[in-house]
Amino acid sequence: MYKKSLPLVLAALVAFSAPAPAAESVAPPKQHWHHQGVFGTYDKASLQRGFQVYKQVCSACHGMKLLSYRNLAGLGYNEDEIKAIAAEYTVVDGPNDDGDMFERAARPADRFKAPFANDKAARAANGGALPPDLSLVVKARHNHEDYIFALLTGYQNPPAGEEGLPGMSWNKYFAGHWISMAPPLVEGAVSYADGTDASVEQMAKDVTQFLAWAGEPHMEERKKMGIKVMLFMFVFAGIMLAAKRKVWAAVH
Ligand code: HEC
Repeated sequence: MYKKSLPLVLAALVAFSAPAPAAESVAPPKQHWHHQGVFGTYDKASLQRGFQVYKQVCSACHGMKLLSYRNLAGLGYNEDEIKAIAAEYTVVDGPNDDGDMFERAARPADRFKAPFANDKAARAANGGALPPDLSLVVKARHNHEDYIFALLTGYQNPPAGEEGLPGMSWNKYFAGHWISMAPPLVEGAVSYADGTDASVEQMAKDVTQFLAWAGEPHMEERKKMGIKVMLFMFVFAGIMLAAKRKVWAAVH
């Protein structure tokens, strides 16, 4: 019985291990990220600049529904600053005692306000394409940060003779190259409070780090805990070795 199914199993193995059909994706160049590596930590100044880019540019089309305003404490904002940021948005709440929904200023506990009421409205405003929620996008894409940075800086003129549909742009790193997101970053699109020059690369780097943080806000605690556990194991192994030597000393 097993013998009979062998060809099937082999066929399945070949089918699933074959490389993905050439989706014409180009591997993004490797970048150095402050938060990578065992001791890597988030660069808070860059995270704050990245949030500014998200807020002033990307949030026109992309939501981040897994974030609440109070999570911004992780970027180094204090309570008053977070209250002020939340209060810039109006959210729908209710129903009140009369059964009516009402609008109020957002509070720190509210989720980030979505740019569109629903996916259909989002598609209608974007030529039929859905701008994905960005809460987990760094984790969700191959090559993670490197890909997001490459995508944001990878807009080029299409190769001669290639024509896309109206409203599409050519991007070196997007699978299939034609993307429904027009280049979102242009030189000086934001004016950074800390005086950093807002070049396309700088904004792309900052917003990518902000999106990486959003996908894993507790990374620093996780790494610290890992180091503590390793230290503990090291000391514990030493104690056990000493104990073993003592116990077996009489035998030798
Ligand atoms: C005017 C609307 C608009 C703005 C502003 C915008 N995007 Fe997009 N974005 C889109 C649309 C539409 C798509 C879907 C594209 C597609 O599938 O062809 C998209 C797709 C994406 C993707 C997914 C690409 C993939 O691999 O599937 C990422 C990441 C992204 N945008 C990041 C950003 C960032 C970061 C910003 C801010 C710097 C931004 N976008 C600003 C409309 C927008």
